[in-house]
Amino acid sequence: MVIEWSPETRELHLRNDLISYVVRVLENGWLGQVYFGPALADGRSYGHLVPGEFYGFSNRLGEAVPLEYPSGGGGDYRIPAVAIELSDGSGVLDLRYTSHRVLKGKPATPGLPSTYVEVGGEAETLEVLLTDAIAQIQVRLLYTIYRDRPVIVRSVRITNSGKTWAIVRCSMSASLDLPDSDWELISLSGEWSRECHVERNRLRPGRQSVSSLRGASSHQHNPFVALARPNTNEASGEAIGLSLVYSGNFIAEAEVESFGTTRLRTGINPDGFSWVLEPGAEFSTPEAVLAYSAGGLGGLSDAYHSLFRERLVRGQWRDRARPVVINNWEATYFDFDEARLLAIATAAKEMGIELFVLDDGWFGERNDDSTSLGDWQVNLFKLPGGLDSLARKVEALGLRFGIWIEPEMVSRASRLFAEHPDWAIGILSRPRSEGRNQYVLDLSRPEVVDHLFEVLSAVLGSAPITYVKWDMNRNITEPHSPTLPAWRQGEFLHRYILGVYQLYDRLTRAFPGVLFESCAGGGGRFDPGMLAFAPQTWTSDDTDAIERLRIQWGTSMAYPLSSMAAHVSAVPNHQVGRVTPLATRAAVAFFGVFGYELDPTVLSGGERAEIAGQVAFYKQWRELFQRGRFRRLLSPFEGDRDETAWMVVADEARAAIVGHYQILARPNPGPRRLRLRGLDAAASYRVSVWLGAGGANGAATGPSILGGDELMSAGLVLDSGRQSATRGDFQARLYVLEAIEGANSPEVAL
Ligand code: GLA
Repeated sequence: MVIEWSPETRELHLRNDLISYVVRVLENGWLGQVYFGPALADGRSYGHLVPGEFYGFSNRLGEAVPLEYPSGGGGDYRIPAVAIELSDGSGVLDLRYTSHRVLKGKPATPGLPSTYVEVGGEAETLEVLLTDAIAQIQVRLLYTIYRDRPVIVRSVRITNSGKTWAIVRCSMSASLDLPDSDWELISLSGEWSRECHVERNRLRPGRQSVSSLRGASSHQHNPFVALARPNTNEASGEAIGLSLVYSGNFIAEAEVESFGTTRLRTGINPDGFSWVLEPGAEFSTPEAVLAYSAGGLGGLSDAYHSLFRERLVRGQWRDRARPVVINNWEATYFDFDEARLLAIATAAKEMGIELFVLDDGWFGERNDDSTSLGDWQVNLFKLPGGLDSLARKVEALGLRFGIWIEPEMVSRASRLFAEHPDWAIGILSRPRSEGRNQYVLDLSRPEVVDHLFEVLSAVLGSAPITYVKWDMNRNITEPHSPTLPAWRQGEFLHRYILGVYQLYDRLTRAFPGVLFESCAGGGGRFDPGMLAFAPQTWTSDDTDAIERLRIQWGTSMAYPLSSMAAHVSAVPNHQVGRVTPLATRAAVAFFGVFGYELDPTVLSGGERAEIAGQVAFYKQWRELFQRGRFRRLLSPFEGDRDETAWMVVADEARAAIVGHYQILARPNPGPRRLRLRGLDAAASYRVSVWLGAGGANGAATGPSILGGDELMSAGLVLDSGRQSATRGDFQARLYVLEAIEGANSPEVAL
């Protein structure tokens, strides 16, 4: 890893063995972008790659010049990275290279979650200072390169060194100019209960984007996009990823301009945003993670999974095996008492489950979703001994105990709202909109954050609580805070998220042993910003195994299995009414952080035994499921969408588990094979089939010892056709591959 500066060519080259990122100071002092892609040799100049001839204006650079941090109004008509309104009302910037320095490691971003370094020498950071001499605006561009990751982490700090105010109207975390537009834009889009569906569309001239204006990253679009070549698939081809470490309003946008080049940008959504910079003040953007893969979308996912798992998630739970939980939400909803919860916990313990989560309804007078958010005192009618008594009884059964909270909210019917009506977000002269009968608390106000820290600390300190599900069930309307002056209201939504981060930071520091899981009606805020505090996220409120194939496939584009909570629930499924076999529900949920969301006391003895087998199987392979390399094999978004397959591979490819899912049974199917990936080509694997019922392993079709080369090149023979057709719809098969020791080879194929 090296960050090289050439004073002759005025080029900066960030390089490791996987990637290069090259920028150049142009003749007029602007910072030009030269290259991002596979590693290039150091010690050479690459400045000639970018246009020497400037189109358009004689005194300004024209459209096709690739720039690092472009602004508008000066001859570049593409989407800007930065827009600042100056005190004379103008908005033209002339940001010229002033200096640069290289820092060991990686500085944190004030108030914002960020990726980090742990070991000396694992990363270096380039800081380039650009200055507009007339407005006295300074822009610092930060670029971190890790020694052995194909990623560049970018962020920006803007300082007003002038004597009058300036207003930041747009400040992207990263902007990337690519020399062509032969790309497809991949985004993860959807809705509540169908999050992260993969959209893939050819780039066309003009702008195309995904974004959020909801005050959260949203169910509708995830703050992750990728560009892939038309021939890029899971295993091969070029892809560039762009992920924003942020949980609020974002934009990720591509623009193809008239010379066929592409500009890609991501950052806080400029719509509705502004930030006033008084003289001397600084604004920091969230960080963006750029990744490059020549090994297809699978390679891109590897880069994000390992970075997020190892250098974004923090705290004790980063490297610890995550417990198998049972959550009472779909079992009881609001209707429970201590006896009912203990009956569920008792049955769960008998099946090997490790942690009981008490979901919504334990506090205030909450018997439905119309009251009590904000009143974080236990409901003594339901739980006469309080949380402590329940938690201790659960502990005595041999399970750990966790709770659900929704700290950012307040119900109109609550003591908190009666005492502090102005703490609910709204505009004083207008009615507030309710969503799920609740308002959002104004976390831009320090006193609200302080209050929540105190009451939640009291709750977490009141009982042996080792897990917290932090929910957020509605988006923000009427964004406005009475504590901000009129000209600062554009800061509100960003300040809200900064307040959320501050509360998360204080609580996770105060309770370092607690495992936090974030949630926003499922995946409404599944983003890297949340992962910096909560190592796992409730992936979706939809627990239907078939819909989950799509949700988990899409989510895995950017996020590791250790971040994706996935539970087995009852049938008919509560979201879609579908009836799927118990084995299929587990075979999908295994590929994540596994748990249950049902009432085991109403299950038959046979079903409970089956679940005990599932839990034992997951525990046996937990390390592989939570930390292995995920490989997507057959997409639920392509072809006839009737089949999905994926696999997870252990370090050094000593073991792997393949999941194959047949959605609708096919009459009279022909013989079929599935080509696997990521195995050791020279190893021999013992292949067995996990049959679900009873948890026993059965024999695979054909010989049970197979070569890694054959499994990857010829494929795994799937269950023979006719048999599989008569098993009915929604069938899953898991294949367990274990390398036979002694037959290993050091070469591991990707
Ligand atoms: C949200 C969550 C659910 C559950 C309910 C409780 O919808 O996503 O898992 O916790 O809230 O009200």
